[in-house]
Amino acid sequence: MSKLGDIIFFREHGVCPRWFCFTFDNRLRRLVQNPDRIIRPFVGAGDRVLDVGPGIGYFTIPIARRVGSGGRVIAADIQESMLRGIVRRAERAGVRGQIELYLSRPDEIYSGEPVDFILSFWMAHEVPRLDRFFRQLRAALKPAARFLLAEPKLHVSRAQFDGEIDLAQKAGLVLLERPAISLSHGALFGSGRVGTSGRFPADQREESPVSRKDDR
Ligand SMILES: C[S@@+](CC[C@H](N)C(=O)[O-])C[C@H]1O[C@@H](n2cnc3c(N)ncnc32)[C@H](O)[C@@H]1O
Repeated sequence: MSKLGDIIFFREHGVCPRWFCFTFDNRLRRLVQNPDRIIRPFVGAGDRVLDVGPGIGYFTIPIARRVGSGGRVIAADIQESMLRGIVRRAERAGVRGQIELYLSRPDEIYSGEPVDFILSFWMAHEVPRLDRFFRQLRAALKPAARFLLAEPKLHVSRAQFDGEIDLAQKAGLVLLERPAISLSHGALFGSGRVGTSGRFPADQREESPVSRKDDR
């Protein structure tokens, strides 16, 4: 679209500002993109989950409910104002105890304990060095964990998303599926390491079982 479109939709390397969250984190979005339904196949009680670029917690709060008191969701964002927004919401929802806050840096997204599942929803296009980003996420996955990448069709073209998948694969992640997610491009990855720790079957595949044709 036009340059104006790029400015309005923050398509050229800006990080989404806190004030802009009301445009995508609202009741209307729930009608077309139910967060519980999206995370249900990947998150269970007791899991340790990394929500990278959580904004003010559209997915963080439902994940916290789902992991329960024995699990944790780490909300890793580069903006402290987003993390503050999550705290307010989590306290209201009674799930503050399940949430760890992590203030990322552009070159250091997360370097804590490995996790069972990583969600990167509508944020990767804001990261300048995606090669480094994917390497760090892969290192944060338990061997049999999963990583779901979703990008907004409004900001990211199909070709750009294919480019992101290539970078993820070069970082060692294994493409397992291209799940259909409304308004989004979606890709599900395994860690590419053989192992049994985590809630998914051991990821033994070295080559991607998914071809580009599968993205509808
Ligand atoms: C458009 S919001 C998406 C929020 C949320 N995932 C959702 O789907 O509602 C993008 C978020 O990614 C964060 N972000 C951008 N670059 C980041 C980075 N390098 N590390 C961590 N968070 C980042 C922004 O601060 C913002 O909170």
